[in-house]
Amino acid sequence: MKYHLVQIDSGDENGESTMSKFIPAEPFDLVIFGGTGDLAKRKLLPALYHRDADGQLGEGSRIIASSRKDLTREAFQAMARTALCEHLPDRDFNEDTWARFADRLHHHRQDVTASEGWDGLQALLANDPGHIRVFYLATLPSLYGPAARNLSAAGLAEPSSRIVLEKPVGSDFDSARTINDEVGEYFSESSIFRIDHYLGKETVQNLMALRFANALMEPLWRGSAIDHVQITVAEQLGAGGRAAFYDRTGTLRDMLQNHMMQLLCLVAMEPPARMNHEDIRGEKIKVLRALRTITPQTVERATVRGQYTSGAVDGELVAGYLEELEGQASSTETFVAVKAEIDNWRWAGTPFYLRSGKRLAGKFSQIVIQFRPIAHSIFPNDAGSLQPNRLTIRLQPDEGVELSVMTKVPGPGEFKMHPLPLDLSFAEAYDKGYPDAYERLLMEVLRGDPALFMHRDEVECAWNWIDGIIDSWASKNMPAQPYVAGTWGPTDAVRLLDRDGREWFHPDV
Ligand code: BG6
Repeated sequence: MKYHLVQIDSGDENGESTMSKFIPAEPFDLVIFGGTGDLAKRKLLPALYHRDADGQLGEGSRIIASSRKDLTREAFQAMARTALCEHLPDRDFNEDTWARFADRLHHHRQDVTASEGWDGLQALLANDPGHIRVFYLATLPSLYGPAARNLSAAGLAEPSSRIVLEKPVGSDFDSARTINDEVGEYFSESSIFRIDHYLGKETVQNLMALRFANALMEPLWRGSAIDHVQITVAEQLGAGGRAAFYDRTGTLRDMLQNHMMQLLCLVAMEPPARMNHEDIRGEKIKVLRALRTITPQTVERATVRGQYTSGAVDGELVAGYLEELEGQASSTETFVAVKAEIDNWRWAGTPFYLRSGKRLAGKFSQIVIQFRPIAHSIFPNDAGSLQPNRLTIRLQPDEGVELSVMTKVPGPGEFKMHPLPLDLSFAEAYDKGYPDAYERLLMEVLRGDPALFMHRDEVECAWNWIDGIIDSWASKNMPAQPYVAGTWGPTDAVRLLDRDGREWFHPDV
């Protein structure tokens, strides 16, 4: 059953448009370090191209890819064109937009770790002193500190300049703090934009609307009404070409510490007083601080680590993780499940089960709010079992919200009950697709709005909790259990919930 809600083009009852408007950015110079790398090709260039197609990039704005490669401007433009043709949907590429976009593209050779040789970039940027200046570090996190220092020494880190850091910021609390200190020495906190691209996803922002723009949610949004919460980010892709990076990182650091912790915070936080970044950040930090520490005594019952072996994903035989590493030994996890407990008044006794993995049976991200059973049934025993309500927030794909409700099966005979979904598909209701998260985030950097970015305190608090898991895994020498690619992870993940009399929910895939 699908709900078609609003005809948004016609405006609301006050005649106000319900379409979001494109606000053009002021002219800018965006320097991308790691500008010929995977992130730039797959995400940043396509996102900027889309915004250019919608007329959002100010006149004369420049995108300057910086790398250690010796590339002419023309060679970089050709590389960018190939990347766009590969990563944009076919119908989105057109020659007119490309001609305008190509004109913005430059390449500049620079080793970001070198203290010398910055005069070329200085000269390039000096051409347009009035432009907003953004440095995007699409590099290893270990380079963030040296890059900030070198930019400052070269006189490029002006008070109005902005710096963008990709997640993960560090690999534990100490390294994150070091990076934050190093970058913070040259850039003020308000000019540091730490990206977690989940915060740019429309459906993640919609969580705020769902919770705080609908009066029926708040009274029920608490442990007394909610049995437990499940947050799943499941992927079918393997580590593949990123295996070397992935092997140093693992799912806990790659997905849990950032994307999943942010989702947990948005579900669990108290209503902020206002929709501004200080208030929202303050509430998120309270949640992170209330998370019960996982210790060597609790880690085996509260967490699961897994690593995929070869198997069939979508009917195609794929290699196991160790084969992708060409036989190198590794105990890095490609799957993690955690039972998180939030020790505060709202959530005491209501666990949050988090899980994420690669090479699973399906690709989806969703949050499930499982409500408690009704207090007392008035129906006859043979009416069928009464299933507690369940709210499923589909972050991707098929973005939407589904609420399961008990209904009476129609008919003149005996009373029979059956659960049915109230299903709201955003794409159908709004009749439009979703921009990629990077499109929004890049525009917010250009506008200088920090609301969708992580403050250093959030990053450090999240690491603090994750460090408890990292240290406990190490002290217990906890192995990554093998699971066959194309399944839902190791059997211990099923046991994690089964012990509590619960089970994981999956969409039909
Ligand atoms: C990235 C991780 O941050 O998120 C990747 O580094 C992961 O390993 C990706 O594949 C998932 O993002 P999305 O938007 O496809 O869910």
